[in-house]
Amino acid sequence: MEFESGNSQLLSKIATSDQHGENSPYFDGWKAYDNDPFHPTQNPRGVIQMGLAENQLSLDLIEEWIKKNPRASICNGEGLHAFKNIVLFQDYHGLPQFRNGVAKFMAKARGGRVSFDPDRIVMAGGATGANEMLMFCLADPGDGFLVPSPYYPAFNRDLRWRTGVQLLPVMCQSSNNFQITKQALEEAYQNAQKANIKVKGVILANPSNPLGTTLDRTTLRSLVTFINDKQIHLVCDEIYAATVFGGPSFISISEIIEEMESINRDLIHIVYSLSKDMGLPGLRVGIMYSYNNTVVNCGRKMSSFGLVSSQTQHLLASMLSDQEFTDKFVLENCTRLANRHEMFTQGLEEMGIRCLKSNAGLFCWMDLRHLLKEPTFESEMSLWRVIISDVKLNVSPGSSFHCCEPGWFRVCFANMDDETVKVALGRIRMFVGQRKDVEVQVKKSWHRNLRLSFSSLIYDETMASSPRIMSPHSPLVRATT
Ligand SMILES: Cc1ncc(COP(=O)(O)O)c(C=O)c1O
Repeated sequence: MEFESGNSQLLSKIATSDQHGENSPYFDGWKAYDNDPFHPTQNPRGVIQMGLAENQLSLDLIEEWIKKNPRASICNGEGLHAFKNIVLFQDYHGLPQFRNGVAKFMAKARGGRVSFDPDRIVMAGGATGANEMLMFCLADPGDGFLVPSPYYPAFNRDLRWRTGVQLLPVMCQSSNNFQITKQALEEAYQNAQKANIKVKGVILANPSNPLGTTLDRTTLRSLVTFINDKQIHLVCDEIYAATVFGGPSFISISEIIEEMESINRDLIHIVYSLSKDMGLPGLRVGIMYSYNNTVVNCGRKMSSFGLVSSQTQHLLASMLSDQEFTDKFVLENCTRLANRHEMFTQGLEEMGIRCLKSNAGLFCWMDLRHLLKEPTFESEMSLWRVIISDVKLNVSPGSSFHCCEPGWFRVCFANMDDETVKVALGRIRMFVGQRKDVEVQVKKSWHRNLRLSFSSLIYDETMASSPRIMSPHSPLVRATT
């Protein structure tokens, strides 16, 4: 729906400013998918959604558990006895069994090497809500948070829009695989000081979205030393903790602070959610976990604005306290992610496309620098437009992640089935092949030729593919249907 402008006198600054961060190719790509969504039989030439970090690989395991545990639901004969209690319950502390289950699962997702106190668990509407809640607790409008780039595009909305907090990128480069260095942190901090911005902390996602990499112990320790020296906060968004499918294993900030002495724990905060690790983004289970008592108390009051439904809490309290199930789930989910990652990256490698070496997440950080006409962000956008409109893949350009080097693209691989991945790889293969031809016949109108070739390719592949296929939808489609 389009809204009339001209409301600037009537409405708030929040409503009328464009600080929502959704004016980005990251969100535009979703719209392109929404306008022409791929379906193997009904729309085989449509756009394949590879811009959505959704984990659809293990939902069958959850469905199986639900079938075996009808008492966990309040809406059937077996579970109805709990209905009245649960639908009337809404304490913003959350159901004790739910907080216990989440605390146990958080420990499991971190290899069982740390434990979490259920009394520090504060509920929020997804990690989105938890991130914003933390900003409200830690910073005032105008204050700054350092964020290593490339970073999750929706941080611009979630952390900034309603809080008035500023995000100050810490530049990470491909030359050292986008590692966070002390120098880069210091430089970003000094720049903020010069601009008179009060830096309140560092926020980052570990494992990283979009890189799919995990931070090593040395980097984590150096980050803690940095924030401790400056007496600013460290927020670790660990939403991908249990998606680590290859070595080295994941190290949570909770482990690091156990190892380091004379650290001010009041400065350390974790964001978690079941959206990625369990593939349940629709349930909006977000967690703010802070080592700071005042933040926990304030967050708990704020959580009234985004509580997890008690029905969801009730269901998950049972599921997450079933240790046999969660053990099996975490293991099997990682195996499936590893297989999918291998299938996708190997397919790309055969075409001469490499990705940053990664061991986690639901995406790859694909290096298309060799396909840019020039090493500029304009060229990156031109290439992205061709990929969306002709190759019909919604991938996300690096510029939307505030990457400081053009030519990198994030491609999600876990929100579809194997057949769709094969179709996507086939389209990329054709694109790369055509691209090479085009380089030879520079004078020809390659754009038109490409489009013709893709149409025939898509037709051939989908005729051969299985009719049983998962159709990846974007949340925008779901929200309007
Ligand atoms: C790093 C990061 N944080 C937060 C979120 C939002 O997660 P949720 O669906 O739990 O709000 C995402 C989703 O992609 C993410 O990648």
